[in-house]
Amino acid sequence: SCRLVILISGRGSNMQTIVETIARDRLDAQVCAVISNRADAAGLAWARQQGIETRAVPHRDYPTREAFDEALAEAIDAFQPDYVLLAGFMRVLTPGFVARFEGRLINIHPSLLPSFPGLHTHQQALTLGVQWHGCTVHFVTAQLDHGPIVAQGVVPVCAGDDPDALASRLLAVEHRVYAQVVRWLAEGRVSLDERQAVNVKGVATRAFLP
Ligand code: GAR
Repeated sequence: SCRLVILISGRGSNMQTIVETIARDRLDAQVCAVISNRADAAGLAWARQQGIETRAVPHRDYPTREAFDEALAEAIDAFQPDYVLLAGFMRVLTPGFVARFEGRLINIHPSLLPSFPGLHTHQQALTLGVQWHGCTVHFVTAQLDHGPIVAQGVVPVCAGDDPDALASRLLAVEHRVYAQVVRWLAEGRVSLDERQAVNVKGVATRAFLP
């Protein structure tokens, strides 16, 4: 069975969707732990209620990023996951951490990468006037919000959208895309080739329409 550790910082709706998808679809996967850099993350309480192991590794308890990442890595390693899924995890990870989990670390970012890395992606999309916005599930590399793309989903930008409206339209697609990626991981379909491009065996498209 595919062992997953999910890292969150807040609400945890993507994490919740992943947990529910595994149960509903009876996937050959298990969420071994949900770990947060914030002890008061709403998603941690939800996971605990489901009987999932949770851990808090508060970043403010550590003097440096390296020290935080070392503690985080130790908390993760205790669960021996096949994959570590970032789902609304809002800390930048050090190159050392990324190297330690190379090929096993996956993130969801709320834009169509390579557009709009970083924060405030919905505001950035509205400011630039793009007509399609989206989300990207990708392998994590040392460069922030880059790395081999597993899947992307799109939503239209609509007249009168503010960042919250656009974010909530996109969130529903994020949930669909991340759930499908977890299905592919559970089925052992996802690999990286020698050029570090993603291959998903037997899957014709990794593009998700609204
Ligand atoms: C999601 O929109 C996710 O794409 C984004 O945070 C939100 C978390 O929501 N992630 C990032 O911005 C990563 N830099 P959730 O906690 O309800 O899943």
